Amino acid sequence: MHPPPSSQSDVVLDVRNMTTEFTTKWGRVRAVDDVSYQVRRGETLGVVGESGSGKSVTALSIMRLVPSPAGRIVGGEVFLNGRDLLKLSDKEMSKVRGGEISMILQDPMQALNPVFTVGQQVGETIRIHEGLRGRPLADKVIEALKKVRIPAPERRVKDYPHQLSGGMRQRVVGAIGISSSPSVVIADEPTTSLDVTIQAAYLRLLRQLQDEYGLAIVFITHDFGVVAKMCHRVAVMYAGRIVEMADVRTIFNNPLHEYTKALIGSVPRMDADGDRLPQLDGQPPLLHDLPAGDAFAPRSKLEFSPEDAGVRPELVEVEEGHWVQLSRPSVAAFDHYSHMVSYG
Ligand SMILES: Nc1ncnc2c1ncn2[C@@H]1O[C@H](COP(=O)(O)OP(=O)(O)OP(=O)(O)O)[C@@H](O)[C@H]1O
Ligand SMILES: [Mg+2]
Repeated sequence: MHPPPSSQSDVVLDVRNMTTEFTTKWGRVRAVDDVSYQVRRGETLGVVGESGSGKSVTALSIMRLVPSPAGRIVGGEVFLNGRDLLKLSDKEMSKVRGGEISMILQDPMQALNPVFTVGQQVGETIRIHEGLRGRPLADKVIEALKKVRIPAPERRVKDYPHQLSGGMRQRVVGAIGISSSPSVVIADEPTTSLDVTIQAAYLRLLRQLQDEYGLAIVFITHDFGVVAKMCHRVAVMYAGRIVEMADVRTIFNNPLHEYTKALIGSVPRMDADGDRLPQLDGQPPLLHDLPAGDAFAPRSKLEFSPEDAGVRPELVEVEEGHWVQLSRPSVAAFDHYSHMVSYG
């Protein structure tokens, strides 16, 4: 993996205070609660957390694809190359989607339509974004397939998805994803586990595209093992909020939030005969039934007084680029950091 970008001025995606709610039969729930993250050119930001922690809804909010009317973005800003996407008209936004920012799905069968040829499917995106037709469109399709190193693209355009190997299908999905030269790609891993060879092809493809085109990638996954291989930085989400964020090395060497430690601990280790370190106890919280203050308090091993549990922990930068939600009891445990936090 290439080294992470260092300049602040390279920020392409800047999500600020994103807050998204759903109306459910239990009332309103906050699926994404004041989430901020930035991704720079050529950087991969991993977003990890248990099922239901708000990883996908954050991505859908960025893309303005939150299912409506049940879901609604109630606050925040999403700057893509300096432009706030939440202020665009629907028409402008539909140009940005699949244009400047696109999603690459891990399951190629889900992303491709079995009844259309490869050429038709890659061509459709290019037609929509560039308005090309005929020969120029056909040329552009071949070029897109070449970019993802599909051999003999002139022949492949006539194939249907089932005629291709899993790895080739993944490349077609990649061709569609980057045909519009996006600056940001969101890769959202599905909950269902896929064939390992498909997963490997997907990871290789994303890395190749990033190396060649300097894509900023938001990589959503449950799997801390994949994070280590793919990401420069990581945001850990719990109950709709970021509880810890840092570069990958720091997250693995010096995780500070109990939740991060537990997620890292549940990665199977090669050196321990498949033994797993202690898992996190308990279930992810129900959003309609969240405790008012610290959502993690009920699962924490630390001692919380009712008053401690009632305090909503702030995300604090404890060392450069390392952000963590420090609850009151954890501040006591990390005496070193206590001067940085003031609880009113
Ligand atoms: N259409 C919806 N209607 C109501 N609530 C929803 C809807 N979609 C998501 N939510 C709520 O938002 C929360 C976050 O969902 P999200 O899909 O972002 O989780 P996730 O972190 O992507 O989980 P997974 O790892 O399973 O994909 C869910 O727990 C759920 O309560
Ligand atoms: Mg999801």
